[in-house]
Amino acid sequence: MNYPQFPKDCKSLLCKYLTPEVFEALKDKRTSNGFTLEQAINSGVQNIDSGIGVYAGDKESYTVFAPLFDPIIEEYHGFTKEDSHKSNLNPDDLNAPNPDPEGEFILSTRIRVGRNMDNMPLGPAITKRQRDEVEARVVQGLKMLEGELAGNYYPLLGMSKEVQESLIKDHFLFKEGDRFLDAAGLNRDWPAGRGIYHNNDKTFLVWVNEEDQLRIISMQQGGDIKEVFTRLVNAIKSIETKVPFSYSYHLGYITSCPTNLGTAMRASVHIALPNLAKDMDAFEAITDKYHLQIRGIHGEHSESEGGVYDISNRRRLGITEVEAVQDMYDGVVALIEAEKALR
Ligand code: ARG
Repeated sequence: MNYPQFPKDCKSLLCKYLTPEVFEALKDKRTSNGFTLEQAINSGVQNIDSGIGVYAGDKESYTVFAPLFDPIIEEYHGFTKEDSHKSNLNPDDLNAPNPDPEGEFILSTRIRVGRNMDNMPLGPAITKRQRDEVEARVVQGLKMLEGELAGNYYPLLGMSKEVQESLIKDHFLFKEGDRFLDAAGLNRDWPAGRGIYHNNDKTFLVWVNEEDQLRIISMQQGGDIKEVFTRLVNAIKSIETKVPFSYSYHLGYITSCPTNLGTAMRASVHIALPNLAKDMDAFEAITDKYHLQIRGIHGEHSESEGGVYDISNRRRLGITEVEAVQDMYDGVVALIEAEKALR
């Protein structure tokens, strides 16, 4: 492989940190699963509008390709090689009374974490057999869940288009055919091995073998962020007793995209801010201050609709889960205040 040609205006962290020197030093390396630099960067090479542009094939990718991954991790999370990651999943440490008890602004709250199985390659490097094994072991673990978390697993293989579309539309299921994941090798053998588990109320869901092997999700209508967090923590702890997760002392929970390392947590609300939406500078001044990301309401890389935005924490590594949710909570309180002042 030759050094990739990126366009002049390329903004991804891949273009920024894959210098010819880094490329030369890494181009012939591979991890013990056979994952190469070419595979790690393919998504960002094919999709020049990537924000990041790289994926790991296994835990080892983060050390074998460290000269590329380290500066990307440092810029995205503000986390250096000397820093260490700490976890705190205690809901009692979260200070989050419902910021919108009247339900004027917050439509729904959703918190997810990504998890991958210990001693398995990540999605970009996994074989079909290994992926099927992950699915079987995860589903077996999920079957043990009780009470509010009890539910059923629905494999994508054999799911009707109508059911699939309606689950996507209601924000319960991942989209099909994402071009970033596709180029990362994450859609190989689609839809085999993929599926969704959910409880009856669809307040607790698990995506199996999407970007990460597990995406554990807690969600509900309204703004009771603490209730959503508490349910998520209960689920993580129960699943962890059945499915060992890949974890590193330095990087926290291992995920295929470096943006998700650490807590692997994205805490978000769908919130209506029609007035603030007219002044994006003021809007972004608040989201920057609280380290938040603004997305559209149909998932990543989607547009906003009717002044409703998806607001979430941006940092996930080097802060605890409680701090990640607190970032989002404090920012949402500030956004609601600003929106009220503009009415
Ligand atoms: N690879 C995509 C990009 O660089 C997504 C990065 C973050 N999102 C994610 N789902 N991992 O723009």
